[in-house]
Amino acid sequence: MSNPPLEPSTTPPVPVVLDVDTGVDDALALMFAVRHPAIDVRAITCVAGNTDVDQVVTNSLAVLDALDAPDVAVARGAEQPLLGGSRDARHVHGADGLGGQRLPSSSRMPFAGGALELMRMTILDSPDPVTLVSLAPMTNVALLLRAYPEVKENLRGIVAMGGALEGGNATPVAEFNVWHDPEAAAIVLASGVPVTLYGLDVFSRVVVEAETYEVLRDDPDPAVALAGRLLAHSHEVIRSDPRVGHGGLVGDAGAVCSVASPGLLTTRRWPVHVALAPGLTRGQTVVDRRYVLGEDAVHGVDSLGHLVDVAVDVDHEATRDLFLTTICAGPQASHGDDTARAVQR
Ligand code: BDR
Ligand code: CA
Repeated sequence: MSNPPLEPSTTPPVPVVLDVDTGVDDALALMFAVRHPAIDVRAITCVAGNTDVDQVVTNSLAVLDALDAPDVAVARGAEQPLLGGSRDARHVHGADGLGGQRLPSSSRMPFAGGALELMRMTILDSPDPVTLVSLAPMTNVALLLRAYPEVKENLRGIVAMGGALEGGNATPVAEFNVWHDPEAAAIVLASGVPVTLYGLDVFSRVVVEAETYEVLRDDPDPAVALAGRLLAHSHEVIRSDPRVGHGGLVGDAGAVCSVASPGLLTTRRWPVHVALAPGLTRGQTVVDRRYVLGEDAVHGVDSLGHLVDVAVDVDHEATRDLFLTTICAGPQASHGDDTARAVQR
């Protein structure tokens, strides 16, 4: 399924730091980001989530190899959320976090200074504001914003796969990334940096049907074949869910598609609050969609959250097509040298 290379973009590519817990759909997101000409991946930082952080590093490096990706720095970050221990999603992503792909281990070395230093340096050294794309529990991002608040000055915004309007996956009301580290999500939403939440409501809508991913699996390009196998794994896991069961989920990659092509997403700016109390609602993103003043405000009870651009709709077919065209176009020309890349190893 080889396509001609994508047309080079006429505007400079968006500098991006990807924070991941690779993860089946994080792997798809890495593929898309590395191969889309409008995205310049400056750094990849890893955090515990779908699997433990060391496995996340291993998986991310192996996916870069499969992509034949240029040199891009990858760093290990937090091994547990701000409070409590890590609770993985291996029942969804497999024991290795990649659905049992057994990818060859990479000879690429992670950045020795760790995720926070890599994020700090990459953001501050960038001549243009950086978009931070969070596809995992927000532990690294919250630690960064608290430890080095000066980075906010050079952040264009944060696009985070996280939260849900209409019901969760980790619990009846909480989406996994927010549920895994609710305090981190609350810190990020309160940081003052513009945040777009690519939540479950849109995440669950972008799928690749079996007839397409079966073709990908036979592709001579190892990255495209890997994408086919990952999508097949995803389909197997979600098959019984009538809301998404007609294909493999593009998942986190959809959030990166929206960075390359913002028109794919419809957002509304609403106050969002992360429920932190122990119990059934912990990790829920409570989104205030009211138009009329509520009794809370009338009686002086502060129940409002922070204003966030919440994704309410996605052009799911166009997103799927953009994803497929991009990964099938093969490796992109390097985005060129810059200070951040020069210090990556
Ligand atoms: C999120 O949790 C993980 O399983 C996926 O990688 C995605 O980031 C969906 O809730
Ligand atoms: Ca993820």
